[in-house]
Parts: sequence; C-alpha cells; structure tokens
Amino acid sequence: MDELVSLAKRRGFIFQSSDIYGGLQGVYDYGPLGVELKNNLKAAWWRAMVYERDDVEGLDAAILTNPLTLKYSGHEATFTDPMVDCRNCKSRWRADHLEGSACPGCGSEDLTEPRPFNLMFKTQLGPVDDGSSFAYLRPETAQAIFTNFKNVMDATSPKLPFGIAQIGKAFRNEITPRNFIFRVREFEQMELEFFVRPGEDEQWHDTWVAERLKWWGQQGVNENNLELYHVPADELAHYSKATVDVMYRFPHGLEELEGIANRTDFDLGSHSKNQDDLNLHAAATPNKESNSRLAVQNLETKSWEVPFVIEPSAGVDRGVLAVMNEAYRVETLENGSERTVMAFKPHLAPIKVAILPLKRNHDGIVTKAKGLKRELQALGLGRILYEDTGNIGKGYRRHDEVGTPMCVTVDFQTIEEDDTVTVRDRDTMSQERIACADLAAYVRNRISEAEV
Ligand code: GAP
Repeated sequence: MDELVSLAKRRGFIFQSSDIYGGLQGVYDYGPLGVELKNNLKAAWWRAMVYERDDVEGLDAAILTNPLTLKYSGHEATFTDPMVDCRNCKSRWRADHLEGSACPGCGSEDLTEPRPFNLMFKTQLGPVDDGSSFAYLRPETAQAIFTNFKNVMDATSPKLPFGIAQIGKAFRNEITPRNFIFRVREFEQMELEFFVRPGEDEQWHDTWVAERLKWWGQQGVNENNLELYHVPADELAHYSKATVDVMYRFPHGLEELEGIANRTDFDLGSHSKNQDDLNLHAAATPNKESNSRLAVQNLETKSWEVPFVIEPSAGVDRGVLAVMNEAYRVETLENGSERTVMAFKPHLAPIKVAILPLKRNHDGIVTKAKGLKRELQALGLGRILYEDTGNIGKGYRRHDEVGTPMCVTVDFQTIEEDDTVTVRDRDTMSQERIACADLAAYVRNRISEAEV
C-alpha cells in the first residue's frame, strides 16, 4: 500500500485533499492521471451496463436529497455504524473494527458502550439556518433511481426486466476512514438497479453476480484475488433479502469491492402511496407523503405489481485501488536495474500513446510528431500525449511507471527515409517500425483488442 500511495502522489494519480492545509480526513483528490484512470473505469462500466445492453437506461440525479426520500428508504432510522468513545483520549472508533477491548489510540480500556452513529451528512438548504430546511448528501446513488422510477418508465416505456444505471458521488460520515481511498467520506458509486418480476429475482441475482465477476476480470483483476462472500442473515442491510459481496484482496486485506443485493420490493414499495393495494413482499415503511405508485400494471389482470430489484453496486474508488494494485509491478531487468510498470489494460491506461520526438528543436521531427498526435487524438480513444523532453530512454521509463501502453518515437529515419516510426511496447519493451500511414489502425487495434 505504501508503494502505491507514494507512486499515486509522485506521478499525479491521487492526492490528499486540502493538502496545503494539513488535509481533510477521508477525502482525496484525483490528479491529472487519476482523473483519466477513473474516467476510463467509469466509461468501461457504462459501456458494459448501458451501451452493450438494450434493457438498461442511464440516469444522473442530484446529490442533494429530500429528507423524505431517506426517511422512507429507512436510512434515517437505520443507516448507522456502532461507535464507541475513548474516555481517556477522547477519540472515537467503530466498535466492530476494534481488535479487543482497548482503544487503538492510547490503549485505555475505558471505552463507552457502543451507540449508533448515523453516517449521513446534512446541509442547510436556502438562507435560513433554523434547522427546518435541510437536505442530505446522498449516502448511495440508488435512492434517486427509485424516486425516478416512474419518470423513467413514462419516458421510455420499458418492459420488465429492465434496469436504470447511475454513476455518481455518495457521502458517508465514516467514523474511521482509512486505507487510502478504500474507506473515505466522499466517494463514487457505479450502481445498477435491475427491476425484475418477483419470483425471477433469485435467478437474476445469480446472473448479475456472474456478470460482475466477468467484468472485473476484463478490467485486469486476477480472479484469484476475488472471492464471493454470501452475507449472513444477521449482517444484511435493512432492505436486503440476500447479498453477495465481491471481495478483493486489497493490499490491506480481503475486503468488499462491490455488493450485489436482492433488495426485493422494499424500496419501490416504501416510496409508494396506497401500499395496501400493492401486495408487497417486504415490510415497507408506511407512506402518506408520496404522491406516486412505483409499480407496473399488468395489462391483462389490471393488477399492480411492484418489481423486485437486483442491485450490483460497485465503488469507483475501490475499483481504482484494485486496478492500480493489479497493475503495479517492479521488474528486475537483465542489466540488474529495476523498472516500475503499471500494466493497466490499455482501455484503462490514463495515457494511451505518448509521442516522443527524438529532437525537440528539429522542425521536421516536431512537425511530424505533432501531426501524429493530432491524428491519433482524433480517434477518440483517450489521451494521446505529445512530450518533447528530448530524452527517449527516460520517457520510456516514466511512461512505464504511469502505464502508457505504447510510446511512439519520431526520428530522422521517419522524416528523411521511409515515413516510419518506432513503436515501443510497455510490457515487452520490444520496438518495431510501423509506417505512419498504418499507425492509426495499429493503435486502434491495440487499444480495443485488449478491452474484450
Ligand atoms: N446502494 C447499495 C450500497 O450503497 P454498500 O455496500 O453500502 O451498498 C456499495 O456500498 C459500494 O460502495 C461498496 O461495495 C464500496 O465499493 C463502495 N463504498 C461504500 N462505502 C464506501 C466508502 N466509505 N468509501 C469508499 N467506497 C465505499
């Protein structure tokens, strides 16, 4: 973990937030390469969950959430972690994270009894701060998918089964944020709520567990580092009939990367009015404040059915940490020197291709290199970097360390002899001459081939 944290900062992937003021605990910022990696991971998820299917629609809902939403979802009452205070050093801890009965800060055993601590952040809405007008920062993106259920149904007329996908920020006032970007207070989720007929839910649950494992494999996560955890009944969230966690061997241990829950008809039912007519399976929160029925009408029987929900919910930040951990390696070369490589799958790499002119002051070489940069950039594969530091060897090393799959060097042979460039491969370090006329097709193949 220490090596990853240090590389992340040195190369501009991830920084402690508000660093110059001593930081803000449990909050991180993504730097020039981190934003690319994170965007690429989110784009891969969106492609798999929305574009490659015809039964899922996208959504981008607000973060500020009406308190009623989180009242009827059950979060106001139950979204808590058990907290203890150390009476000696005044620090606070999550009771279920303590190893033994002593305070991890000072070693004292003078701890309070555990009490529930609600993890939701509140913020004032409008100019009057009298406590009556506030919103929550959403603790999961899922609730806005449920409250928009009817809007999306009316707009797109889908048939069951169908899903609504969303990627966005979520906020939790974690008692003890830790392990770099693993447990933070501001993070992103990639969530799909997949609505199915009651009775077909268990089969769809199995299907989504298999789909999601396959997807993590496609992002370069070795299957030996993934394990499924069938959450026991006494650990289930209040809305869940069954949850399977995808666990990943993080540098600090085996922990949850994604949760795949069967939320039954709990959420849609709880947010609906006139629940008595809905034949709900789960114990929904009685609701007199909603003006809507989040249900599907059976056109033959005219009865209303509330779909069950299967929810694969993955953390973007945990995904970034897993992908970085998988990609990181230090190799000893034949001459005894070491090189650090981030062997990202090319579709995730922050920089797809670096174009390096052999001489930064040579007009012919520079013009050619800049032209190739423009041509490759126009392919829309992601960031193509023109970099004229003039030291090709150092450039290769730097790009190994940030995971650039290919470096293209423009030299005298390019402009004076045969219009070819050297393409150097990150993983094998081999170099081949490619005709400039073929370069775009070559790069496109290399990037998209690796994605499947
Ligand atoms: N809508 C369901 C839900 O939110 P969750 O298991 O509480 O379920 C889903 O969260 C995913 O969000 C987790 O698997 C994890 O990847 C990510 N996540 C949750 N809390 C997090 C935190 N404090 N920091 C980083 N990621 C977090």
